[in-house]
Amino acid sequence: MPGEVRIERVDVHDDAVLAAWHGVAWRADRHDRGENATTWTLPELTAQLRSGRRSRSTAAYVGTVDGTAVAFGVTVLPMLDNTGTAEVAVAVDPPARRRGHGSAMLAHLLAEVGAQGRTTVHAEVDWPWSAAPDGTGTPGVEFARRHGFALGNLEVMRVLRLPVRDDVLDALDPGLGQYAVRSWVGPVPEDLLQAWAEMDASLSTEAPTGDLQVEAQVADTAAVREGEQLLVAQGRTAYRAVAVAPDGTAVGYTEVVTTVHEPGRAYQWGTLVHGDHRGHRLGLALKVAALRLLQSSEDPAGPVDHVLTWNAESNAHMVGVNERLGFVPVERCGIFERRS
Ligand SMILES: CC(C)(COP(=O)(O)OP(=O)(O)OC[C@H]1O[C@@H](n2cnc3c(N)ncnc32)[C@H](O)[C@@H]1OP(=O)(O)O)[C@@H](O)C(=O)NCCC(=O)NCCS
Repeated sequence: MPGEVRIERVDVHDDAVLAAWHGVAWRADRHDRGENATTWTLPELTAQLRSGRRSRSTAAYVGTVDGTAVAFGVTVLPMLDNTGTAEVAVAVDPPARRRGHGSAMLAHLLAEVGAQGRTTVHAEVDWPWSAAPDGTGTPGVEFARRHGFALGNLEVMRVLRLPVRDDVLDALDPGLGQYAVRSWVGPVPEDLLQAWAEMDASLSTEAPTGDLQVEAQVADTAAVREGEQLLVAQGRTAYRAVAVAPDGTAVGYTEVVTTVHEPGRAYQWGTLVHGDHRGHRLGLALKVAALRLLQSSEDPAGPVDHVLTWNAESNAHMVGVNERLGFVPVERCGIFERRS
């Protein structure tokens, strides 16, 4: 029927459909978040969809009205663990909102993931720092609540303007005692791979998870390498550091990632210190090391002038480290959950 939304799975080898699908999310994110928008660029999302990753299965859906793309949808299914869970994302072009297209897309995605046995569904929603702390009145939060999602974990997005002067980093650098830090650009060295896989896998349950249903992730070295291949295909560069205990074991890690598709920006991804080695300021030492590495490297996209990061609001230690480095809050990000 004219005016009705028609939802189809995106053929990931059809460049024109991919561009139309991605354009919806891009415009929606710019409209709602301005310079804080973080939607992955078209080449990065395309690389992910075409990667055929073993560890996470991603599918794209487009909603069209009379041939024009108005709704964007994505499902991500963890394949090695959390096999009852799916992540979904929905966005609607701003001029086409409040006509039920978002609801139609979400219903389609829930049916797709439900048919694959996924009974827990997670969705991220962002809202400005200036809005109500629980997001009341913002489109994404109202939409999520309307559809039976409840807030599971509240995160804050912070930004750090670069460069951080060397003397500031020197003053913050806590000293390592008996520990050492190794930092490098690119793939994880072979001798650190197993420890890296274990630390990276433990992050999703070691960081505060609020009320979310999250199972431990499987540590899988092949998945780490698979992820690194995807980073290359996406034009991304990883700046990484590990903390090493006196017996040579890696006991903490951090990574900061840039992309040639977003010059000027870096993303602070995971940071973790093993439970037995907390309280030695290794989190701060790792972040200082990664920042020094980033600032002293020639990034393929040119100079980086800001870093974005997300932390659970309740994660007092990590937030404390970030605030000492100079990160300031700009947005909240709620991870919403729906169980069926
Ligand atoms: C959230 C979003 C997808 C909604 O798309 P949409 O097509 O406007 O949604 P619908 O028309 O299906 O709205 C369904 C219901 O959600 C609620 N809702 C949606 N937008 C709302 C808003 N701005 N304010 C209050 N309630 C809203 C209402 O209850 C609405 O029903 P109603 O129009 O009968 O009152 C869209 O605003 C968007 O793209 N936001 C940015 C991305 C995002 O936050 N996605 C959600 C997380 S996956």
